[in-house]
Amino acid sequence: MSAANQTPVETLSEEQAAAELAFLAAEIASNDELYHGKDQPAISDAEYDALKRRNDAIEQRFPELIRDDSPSRRVGAAPLPTFAPITHSRPMLSLDNTFSDEDVQDFIGSVYRFLGQLPDGSIAFTAEPKIDGLSMSIRYENRKLVSAATRGDGTTGENVTANVKTIKQIPNTLPADAPDIVEVRGEVYMAKSDFLALNAQMEAEGKQTYVNPRNTAAGSLRQLDAKVTESRKLRFFAYAWGEISEMPSDTQMGTVETFGRWGFPINPLMKRLSSVEDILGHYREIGLQRPDLDYDIDGVVYKVDRLDLQQRLGFRSRSPRWATAHKFPAEQAFTTVENIDIQVGRTGALTPVARLTPVTVGGVVVTNATLHNEDYIKGIGNSGERIREDDHDIRIGDTVIVQRAGDVIPQVLDVVMEKRPAGAEAYVFPKTCPVCGSHAVRERNEKTGKLDSVTRCTGGFVCRAQATEHLKHFVSRNAFDIEGFGTKQVDFFFESEDEALKIRTAPDIFTLKKRQEASTLTKLENIDGFGKVSVKKLFDAIDERRSIALNRFIYALGIRHVGETTAKLLARHYGTYEAFETAMKEASSLAGDAWQDLNNVEGIGEIVARAIVEFYKEPRNLDVVGRLLDEVTPEAAEQIAASDSPVAGKTVVFTGSLEKFTRDEAKARAESLGAKVAGSVSKKTDILVAGPGAGSKLDKARELGVQTMDEDEWLALIGG
Ligand code: IVH
Repeated sequence: MSAANQTPVETLSEEQAAAELAFLAAEIASNDELYHGKDQPAISDAEYDALKRRNDAIEQRFPELIRDDSPSRRVGAAPLPTFAPITHSRPMLSLDNTFSDEDVQDFIGSVYRFLGQLPDGSIAFTAEPKIDGLSMSIRYENRKLVSAATRGDGTTGENVTANVKTIKQIPNTLPADAPDIVEVRGEVYMAKSDFLALNAQMEAEGKQTYVNPRNTAAGSLRQLDAKVTESRKLRFFAYAWGEISEMPSDTQMGTVETFGRWGFPINPLMKRLSSVEDILGHYREIGLQRPDLDYDIDGVVYKVDRLDLQQRLGFRSRSPRWATAHKFPAEQAFTTVENIDIQVGRTGALTPVARLTPVTVGGVVVTNATLHNEDYIKGIGNSGERIREDDHDIRIGDTVIVQRAGDVIPQVLDVVMEKRPAGAEAYVFPKTCPVCGSHAVRERNEKTGKLDSVTRCTGGFVCRAQATEHLKHFVSRNAFDIEGFGTKQVDFFFESEDEALKIRTAPDIFTLKKRQEASTLTKLENIDGFGKVSVKKLFDAIDERRSIALNRFIYALGIRHVGETTAKLLARHYGTYEAFETAMKEASSLAGDAWQDLNNVEGIGEIVARAIVEFYKEPRNLDVVGRLLDEVTPEAAEQIAASDSPVAGKTVVFTGSLEKFTRDEAKARAESLGAKVAGSVSKKTDILVAGPGAGSKLDKARELGVQTMDEDEWLALIGG
């Protein structure tokens, strides 16, 4: 995907988001492989971070689109087969990233909120440099080093024990007071000075020099000959742990300091702080020291200090709730806006893109930047706030500051007013769709009455851009995934005016063969780029999809806000397509049982629910779906896999003022056991957990004969 195809996260349609997440999953996986697996990065660290951040930002906006193979669920790359695998006793997780002071404030706020406390500054955090090396888990049994493993994919790493034993800073034995089982975790790195010396030597010997200390350290560790590792002078900082038979302290700081006493190097810049000001102050202090440190760092890691609180906060799928990495800022550069183009997406969103004079930002050439929407060009943010000074609207000819931060596609931050050319005129946002000429409008938000920031083409199926994007989504990998039928074929068949060839809507794909057979004039096999064999293959591939999993079918319909995950939830909940469609039609009044039931599906919010119901109110959609069902059979959905917890598969509602845990905590715990947590009581509710002061929900549960219990009974049921 070229940068030109990028859209700001705020204005992405769910289809664009899904497509981009698919792209990012593949892109990040291949870079992981190059980076972790082969120690040969193809892109800069900043660019890699940008990919990840873009992925995270999209997932945050579209949680229903999070893919099973999402990079946020994977940590690093799968291990290379050269070393024996070691399964970590506890997974080696990743950290969430934060980029701004506000993000840090949010992180700290979320810790207090999760724990049900007022943000009174009473919780202490540790703050320490984020070392740019590779994480390592080193296991001691009876105080002897028995194994060392790389992170690998987070679950299984590589056994690099022999190599790690050559690292002088890592003790081979622990003192007598250390517990029987200890896994110390931390970062193996190469000092900048050692890296420079090594490269000087390589150069003197006429050999190829290394790219950066991190990859050199990784390469040095993965040597089958441990002597090579030894010669590379790797170093180590301890900052975490896996299994420990007896904790030496009840805080993060205390435990790491114990590691220091046991002989591990610990980072001297690690501090324990409580207020946001102090934490951010330490971040800036570390930033100032960064150029003088003899090791690469790319941010500051904050962790909740008390281990009991860490325990309560627990983990999301791949990262702890009690820690975050505050990254150092992105790089910026100046360039000029040569032109502003408009792209039209599947839902008709018009996205302006700045064509820039090519400029290098952080080692990467940038030629395009997203301008998000009409307001962004003017300098107005999504909530109507000013994002640049009053007259700093973006014009063709302007010199601008571009930034490559988390986003793959760079942002235009600001305009250098002194350099604005004399004749530069304010950009006039189109009132019509540049593709089909239909009116382009900004919708008014039903709830707030405010103008939406997105301008949309009203052409619907008439608009070639929307219709083709729709078809491209339909045949995409996670939808119908028809082999040999990709974006090129969509464009080809869409453009055709021939009755025996043209494909304007999804059902046309499935009638193509019949129409071809009936036609004597236009035979696909006679058209350039096709041929007998490939035509047969194409028809076979199409026929193969005449039966399809219900969740894929629903996802393929391209209902706004319904990504892969939501489609799965719907498929699982309704079981069959007929049941789903019937329920959606019944829910059309946005009231009644069917509507309630839809809203009760965990993971489906009101915006999504509305979008689905709206989709089924549109006769054109019903017509397309109807014709599609003449050709295709959605299979009934599989049942939810059971786990051994007694609450697995149960729908639980929490009500009243909970005293033993916060609502977030209760929800996270229940979901981790395989339960579904709903917001309101219905016939589908299995258990109502009522804290003190429970009111109408408790009454309703009793009325419906739903099992009710208090917090203690719930804890007993789930095993404390
Ligand atoms: S704590 C459960 N502390 O960053 C969290 N990680 O993106 C365990 N890293 O895999 C990690 N310096 O390789 C932690 N001071 C530090 C770190 C650090 C570098 C790396 C580590 C980890 C990755 C997370």
